[in-house]
Amino acid sequence: SQTARRTDDGELEIGGWRASELLAEFGSPLYVLDEADIRERAAAAVADFSAAFAEIGAEVELHYASKALLTIDVARWMQEAGLGLDVASAGELEIALRAGIDPANIGMHGNNKSGASLRRAVAAGVGTIIIDSAQEIERLAAIASEFDRVQPVLVRINSGIHADTHSFLATSHEDQKFGLPIAAAGEAIARIRELDSLELRGLHSHIGSSIYDAGGFGAAADRLMRFRAQLLAGGPVLEVNLGGGFGIAYLPSDNATPLAELARGIAAEVARACAETGSDLPAFTFEPGRSIVGTGGTTLYTVGTTKTVDVPLDAGGSAERLYVSVDGGMSDNTRPSLYGANYCVRLANRESDVAPRLVRVVGSHCESGDVVVHDDYLPGDVHPGDLLATPATGAYGFAMANFYNCFDRPAVVAVRDGEARTLVRRVTIDDLLAYDCAATEEETR
Ligand code: LLP
Repeated sequence: SQTARRTDDGELEIGGWRASELLAEFGSPLYVLDEADIRERAAAAVADFSAAFAEIGAEVELHYASKALLTIDVARWMQEAGLGLDVASAGELEIALRAGIDPANIGMHGNNKSGASLRRAVAAGVGTIIIDSAQEIERLAAIASEFDRVQPVLVRINSGIHADTHSFLATSHEDQKFGLPIAAAGEAIARIRELDSLELRGLHSHIGSSIYDAGGFGAAADRLMRFRAQLLAGGPVLEVNLGGGFGIAYLPSDNATPLAELARGIAAEVARACAETGSDLPAFTFEPGRSIVGTGGTTLYTVGTTKTVDVPLDAGGSAERLYVSVDGGMSDNTRPSLYGANYCVRLANRESDVAPRLVRVVGSHCESGDVVVHDDYLPGDVHPGDLLATPATGAYGFAMANFYNCFDRPAVVAVRDGEARTLVRRVTIDDLLAYDCAATEEETR
C-alpha cells in the first residue's frame, strides 16, 4: 500500500484521513501509522523470508524487533502477521505480555538485563533468552532453577563483521559492548551445556542497522556456521539467529533493496556458508524492526514561524535559506540530531504552484541542532499555519521520543480505510507535573 496520497484539492491523505482532519481531531504534532502498510509489510516479510529460505531447504522465523515501535496494538499486528517478538528490556517484555503475545514466541535481548527482568522472562516462559555475557549464564541458570525451568538460550556472538552504517548503529565490530567474541564463546557454551537449567538452542548475531546488502549477513553467517560446525561435536545447535537491520528508503532518492530481494540474497549467502562448512542447515531467525514499521509512519506538524537566513558561502557571498519552524522537533524525532539522519518533508494541507525553495525544517527546542529535515524543498509560499509531513518516521521516532523542554509527546494514531484510532494518547504537561512530587504534594495540601 502507499502510505499517503493527495486528495483532489491537493491535501495529503493517509488511510482515508486528511492531514488537517487528523490534526484537528488528535492534536499537533502527531504520529500517524498507516495500519494497512505496516500489517502488509509484516506479512510480506514473513512470506518473503519463507520463500527465500524454502528455496535453500531451511526453516525460517521472524521476530519483530519491537524497539523500533511498540504499542500493544502494534505487537498484536505482528502476532497476527505471523511474527514473534524480540524485546530488549523489562518494559518491552511487559508490553508484549500485555498484548497477549505467546511467550514462547518472544526472544529477550539486553547486554545488562536486570535480575528482575530475567525473573519475569523465565516465569512468563519466554521462548529464548539471548545470553550476552559470561556472567549472565550463571545469573540466568540460578533463576531458571529457582523456577524449576529449563530455559532455552541463544548466545550472542560478536562476529567481528564491520557493518557499513553509522558507527552508533554498527554492533559487531570488536570495540563495542554486545555479545561474546568467538574466542570466548566456546567456553561460555561449554558452561551452558553443563548446566541443567539452561538449554543451548543456538547462536545469535546482529551486525547493525540500516544495512542494504546481503554481504555482511553472509560474512556473519560464514563465521557462525564455521563456529557451529565445531560446536556440534558437543551437542545440537538448532537455531541461528542473524538479527535484523534491513535498511529502508528515507528519501525518494534512496535506492533501498526490496526486502524480498535482500531475503533471497541472504538465503543464498547462508546456503553457501553452510555448504562450505559441510554442515546441515539449522533453523534461521531474523529480527527486522525498521523495515516493518519505518515507511508506514508519518509525523504531522504545524508550521509556527518562517525566517529567511543569509548563509555565508565558502566561495564568498551568501545564499538564502528558509528556516521553517514546526511545533515538534528533536523530542519526537531524535534521529536527525543524533545520527544526522535525513528525511524529506511535504506540504500536507495543500498544493502550491509557487516555485520551491530550499528549506531547513527545524523544531521548537532550545538548541540549534534541533533539526527535523536538513535540506529539502517546499513551495516558496509556505507560511505559519501550514501543515507539514515527514514520511518514513515509523521506526525509532516515537520509540526514542523524550521530554526535552517538557513538550507534549504526540499521540500515536492508527488510520485505516477511513477509520482513525488512538493507540497511545498524547502525554501533556499535566502528565509530567503528575510525576513532580512537589506539584502533587502541593495539590493535596
Ligand atoms: N536485533 C537486534 C539484536 C538489534 O539490536 C536490533 C536493533 C534489531 C534486531 C533491529 O534492527 P532494525 O531492523 O530495526 O534495523 N535507534 C537506531 C537504531 C538502533 C537499532 C538497535 N538495534 C536508529 O534510529 O536508527
